[in-house]
Amino acid sequence: MARIPSAFIDELLGRVDIADVVGRHVELRAAGPEFKACCPFHSEKTPSFTVSPVKQFYHCFGCGAHGTAISFLMEYDQLDFVEAVETLADMVGVEVPREHSAPDNGPSKALTLALTEVLEHVASHYHAQRETLSDYMAERGLDDTVIARFMVGYSPRRDALALDPKQLIDTGVYIERDDGNHYPRFRERLMFPIRNRKGQVIGFGGRALGDATPKYLNSPETSLFVKGHELYGLFEARQHTRRIRQLVVVEGYMDVISLHQFGFTEVVATLGTATTAEQVRLLFKSTTKLIFCFDGDRAGRAAAWKALGNALPELRDGRELRFLFLPDGEDPDSYVREHGLLGFHDALERAMALEHFLFDHLSSEVGNLDAAGRARLASLAQPMLERMPEGVYRQILNERLQQIVGLSTQRRASRQGGAGQRRAREPSHSSSPRTVQPSRMQRAMACLLHFPQLLHTLPDALTTLPESVPGQALWSMLCATIRAQPDIRPGQLLERFREHEHFAVLHRLAAQHPATAEFDEGFATPELRDALTYLHRDATRKEIAQYKRRLHELSDSEKQSLRRLLSEVAKLPAE
Ligand code: GTP
Ligand code: MN
Repeated sequence: MARIPSAFIDELLGRVDIADVVGRHVELRAAGPEFKACCPFHSEKTPSFTVSPVKQFYHCFGCGAHGTAISFLMEYDQLDFVEAVETLADMVGVEVPREHSAPDNGPSKALTLALTEVLEHVASHYHAQRETLSDYMAERGLDDTVIARFMVGYSPRRDALALDPKQLIDTGVYIERDDGNHYPRFRERLMFPIRNRKGQVIGFGGRALGDATPKYLNSPETSLFVKGHELYGLFEARQHTRRIRQLVVVEGYMDVISLHQFGFTEVVATLGTATTAEQVRLLFKSTTKLIFCFDGDRAGRAAAWKALGNALPELRDGRELRFLFLPDGEDPDSYVREHGLLGFHDALERAMALEHFLFDHLSSEVGNLDAAGRARLASLAQPMLERMPEGVYRQILNERLQQIVGLSTQRRASRQGGAGQRRAREPSHSSSPRTVQPSRMQRAMACLLHFPQLLHTLPDALTTLPESVPGQALWSMLCATIRAQPDIRPGQLLERFREHEHFAVLHRLAAQHPATAEFDEGFATPELRDALTYLHRDATRKEIAQYKRRLHELSDSEKQSLRRLLSEVAKLPAE
């Protein structure tokens, strides 16, 4: 079978978030920096299954199940390694490269490929006729660079597409009449090709040039194009932004292109529908900060409220959601034209925090904030907050709510106490079914498997172990792998060894020291140092003992070596 290059596995694991992978199958709840759930691999009532996004590992304290995103899919979906990798690649929209690839596409895959090719062809056909738009585009202030970047085009009255009409119907470019004839869906419109995250054209938005109605005509949904799963401009944002720090969600295609024209590329648009939960999930894969930028009118606020509702379950700690309502009659396009890029940045700076919008909106719904109104506010807000993952963010919002409704501090304190106790009841890892005391070497390896970057904090003299230490070869491979990729994450590191003869050992070690509060970086740092020091001392002492056994017959150079070893032992930190 064609091999998948390990650099690709690495990159893939760098792109996917194990919490997303596991979260598709298991309902995860945030618990500090990690997630918890009832273990999918054994039956239990209280959750002892954790997922660590930092380490890119999952671990079950109950049954000892442990691994990376790849092993999760292998175990959970009963996939083989290649299938698991392909599934992950699909999730992030990349192709799996093969060292010597054999074309092996199933029938549905071949069809999908053909459809995107058809759409790509249609898009360039429209784009080739962009001349017709030149006055319109000039009037709107768009230049050739962005027109090309978004492949904006024009659909003529009569088109001359030399493509199979059946395929044009399947892709929604043509409409089939009852009598079996067909005609183009888009005529004399400004065409915005809509791309998926791989950059493939999957549909179109077509804007009337004059006052024709409807103002916008979109492609129908097809197997390729599900409006609630795509975002206009996401591909281009990722292509043209060096490091995405935020994504601004706007309503119009034109808004996206116009902002690009002004040099602002961290922008996407929904496709004429409300922002869906899937879209929010997708966006949070590319950034930790979302700003919904809608009209300040009723419709805009309603759209923002809907977006908020769909975003709540995704708001784990570290993520941020804001709202920017533009003045009446303005959209991001008109705003950036009037106020420039700096003006738009300023507006973003002033975007409303989630809690502000949430409580403002609910308060206005409740009306009078008398006792009954406040109770109603609480009853509306609480179920919403409960949809957020557990964490500090949610806790703070809860506290805000308590302040607004004016619950006594005493009651608040007792509630928090309750939550704290629940959280404190964490299963300890000593309950792991396989608790054989690991050797020093194994402990050192476990530390590196969980905190690879600790290697960079240690002197080479300490990490370079004598060859006589059992496990030294594997240890030095671990070190070399980390040095070659200094920011490697635990999940990536482990996967590098999947085909190594000692993979099972490393896997077990990674599982034995699970991601608990007890085994954090603060614990691992001295643990690793101590283990390495011990191994050095032990190896040196053994060598010394061997020399001493033949003390009377040592050569001069051997005596010198012995002296060196003795002084080395003396230099090592005391036990
Ligand atoms: P301009 O008016 O050219 O600036 O376009 P715009 O993108 O700003 O459009 P507008 O603010 O009117 O609408 C925002 C988005 O809502 C559009 O990009 C479309 O996705 C969607 N939309 C607007 N009008 C229609 C319509 O008549 N039909 C459909 N299906 N969608 C529409
Ligand atoms: Mn507009």
